[in-house]
Amino acid sequence: MQIEKTIRPIRILAIESSCDDTSVAIVEGTMDDAFPKVLALAVQSQNEIHKNYGGVVPELASREHLKNLLPCFKKTLEEANLGLKDMDVFAATGQPGLIGSLLIGHSSAKTLSFLYDKPFISCDHLEGHRLSVYLESFPRPPYLTLVVSGGHSSLYLVQKDLRAKRLGLTLDDAAGEAFDKGAKLLGLGFPGGPELEKAARLGNPNVEPFNAVKVTGLNFSFSGLKSELARRVKKDFHLYDLCASYQKAILDHLMAKLKRALEETKAREVVLVGGVASNQSLRDRLESLKSEKKLNQWYAPSPRYCTDNAAMIGVAAFLKWKQKEFSELTQDVSSTSRPRPKEMRALKFAQA
Ligand code: KG4
Ligand code: ZN
Repeated sequence: MQIEKTIRPIRILAIESSCDDTSVAIVEGTMDDAFPKVLALAVQSQNEIHKNYGGVVPELASREHLKNLLPCFKKTLEEANLGLKDMDVFAATGQPGLIGSLLIGHSSAKTLSFLYDKPFISCDHLEGHRLSVYLESFPRPPYLTLVVSGGHSSLYLVQKDLRAKRLGLTLDDAAGEAFDKGAKLLGLGFPGGPELEKAARLGNPNVEPFNAVKVTGLNFSFSGLKSELARRVKKDFHLYDLCASYQKAILDHLMAKLKRALEETKAREVVLVGGVASNQSLRDRLESLKSEKKLNQWYAPSPRYCTDNAAMIGVAAFLKWKQKEFSELTQDVSSTSRPRPKEMRALKFAQA
């Protein structure tokens, strides 16, 4: 494997294909940089395919990745004005996600690594989301990170070395799933989050209030809200008011846990990441929380870095590259997040 000893910035080509978005990014940085900068990013959504089914169909997602991946490569390389031969590392999401979808991006990155004799780095999708904030801002640990996406809702305390301690997680549906399933019950489009947010803007959130969610510790639960919504749509309802009330109930629950976590930790900053972090009402609630809890600051990436994208995988891969934490070409994918290997794989880099 060729690992050049050079002070020029290294370029990482990163692939994200864990669910239904195909994405390729090129990021660049030196050993002295804390985080890399994005040279190019392409994202191809599959919403047009899955909206006909009201949710992601795994086999169709895999087939679409096969179609979309090469155009994404082409777009990214053209945007960066670079070729595959100019890449120093190939990286891809290896977990968690849909196995068929993960395999496509992961195998492509491994093949390129083999062909160009460059290191391969397998990344964790949730770590990518957590690190996505560093594409644009620099929160100071210790801080809280709320990951709210279509598949995950978890709260972390991020320490000085960026190690994330999970404080709580959803016991059933994820926050994005609550938006998607709610939107489906209300007859709105797919993906449900942005559609429900649009409809909620036109309604009064206090007309059809939901009961507050009760769940232990810093965990979340959204399935009760969804069941309550399913009962209400069977009777007469005002669409916009019900959307506004349902969205408020989801956000109330997220905010209650965030407030409790702020009381229980020394964190004075909050980071929101994942698809739901692009919700403007949630962002407004964070702004209010800032004055209420006297936060130093709160952060959320731009919407294009909130939803699934390969730039965040580029950041995760860059940090691993700095630690010389490379992956074997035999590395498999996994539907769940596995703990990092105890042994950092210094490989030949350390001996070079
Ligand atoms: O992070 P992401 O792209 O994929 C996963 O890792 O799951 O998140 C997608 C989720 C979907 O559930 C989508 O409905 C939700 O994020 N979402 C939103 C908004 N934009 C996307 N939810 C609420 N409001 C939004 N504006
Ligand atoms: Zn995601």
